[in-house]
Amino acid sequence: MSKTVFVTGGAGYVGSHCAKAFSQAGWHVVTYDNLSRGDRDLVKWGPLIEGDILDSLKLTAALNDIRPDAVAHFAAFAYVAESFREPERYYQNNVVGTMRLLDAMRETRVPQLVFSSSCATYGVNAELITEDTPQLPINPYGETKLACEKMIQAYGRAHGLRSVILRYFNAAGCDPQGETGERHDPEPHVIPLAIRGAMDGDFEFNIFGNDYETPDGTCVRDYIHVSDLGHAHEKALNYLQQGGESVELNLGTGHGHSVLELADAVSKIAGREIPKTFGPRRDGDPPQLVASVEKAHQVLGWQPRYSDLDHIISTAWAWFQAERNRSP
Ligand SMILES: NC(=O)c1ccc[n+]([C@@H]2O[C@H](COP(=O)([O-])OP(=O)(O)OC[C@H]3O[C@@H](n4cnc5c(N)ncnc54)[C@H](O)[C@@H]3O)[C@@H](O)[C@H]2O)c1
Repeated sequence: MSKTVFVTGGAGYVGSHCAKAFSQAGWHVVTYDNLSRGDRDLVKWGPLIEGDILDSLKLTAALNDIRPDAVAHFAAFAYVAESFREPERYYQNNVVGTMRLLDAMRETRVPQLVFSSSCATYGVNAELITEDTPQLPINPYGETKLACEKMIQAYGRAHGLRSVILRYFNAAGCDPQGETGERHDPEPHVIPLAIRGAMDGDFEFNIFGNDYETPDGTCVRDYIHVSDLGHAHEKALNYLQQGGESVELNLGTGHGHSVLELADAVSKIAGREIPKTFGPRRDGDPPQLVASVEKAHQVLGWQPRYSDLDHIISTAWAWFQAERNRSP
């Protein structure tokens, strides 16, 4: 009989791609999402329970009813700039929400968790970031993710919860079959914005800061294809099923690309120059974030397969073209 995974935030960008990966690997997938930032039509790989992780009663009832083997927890707010403006909403949704989930899992005896953490927990680092690099976040969003990590580890020590904490770097690209993709409103992510610059003649792609100590002065990030994240999450579920101990793992590629490199790659695929402007640096943006991914390779036997920059951009380009054709 197939195992069941309860996916919080499965109507969102990363969660829907992971739901597809779980389903393709034979898991029965149940999504729990309040649709505050996700879309019903992206829940394609199993039923949707519309609910909030802050709603303990509904969450506990859903877990009691479904009796999942594991939870994959994606539900959160994830915009750095917004987290500076409204830290209270971030602490409430991300930290209190995760606590409600852990308590509901404890009450209903669900023993395994895969958690979406972030490179935003690390802060400023010039070097390749390993899992042992000190976690010193420089924005409230990263602080909330670090608080969740600590809470999950403490519940593990006290109550026996086993977890895989996955710290992803920049999730990017879209499902190569076009079945799900990225849909944020407003869109804060750099690749969709560069693509918009290439598609809309009147939209200028703004680059925040070109005076960083990086090769071309713009921020360097490690872009990991969202289908590679899906594959890693599925391996993390299997690892826990086989009795693996709690662990924290980076998910990236080990290579960084600057914002200007990325804009050039989008121009190449679009066949037209992107109108660019340069603005001031943004609060909370470290100059460089690049992952060491050795540990994920060793523990899960996982390696990125789809994260070549041109592939990332061409899958995103195809998704945004199709979205444009879908909209009236
Ligand atoms: N996108 C990235 O580059 C990236 C990088 C590192 C970590 N992450 C983490 O991955 C996870 C998913 O990110 P994403 O980019 O897919 O975001 P997203 O906004 O596309 O998806 C989040 C989903 O969670 C749901 N949600 C939010 N609050 C909820 C609540 N209280 N109850 C129920 N559902 C709720 C939203 O409706 C949405 O469907 C987040 O935890 C984020 O912190 C994302």
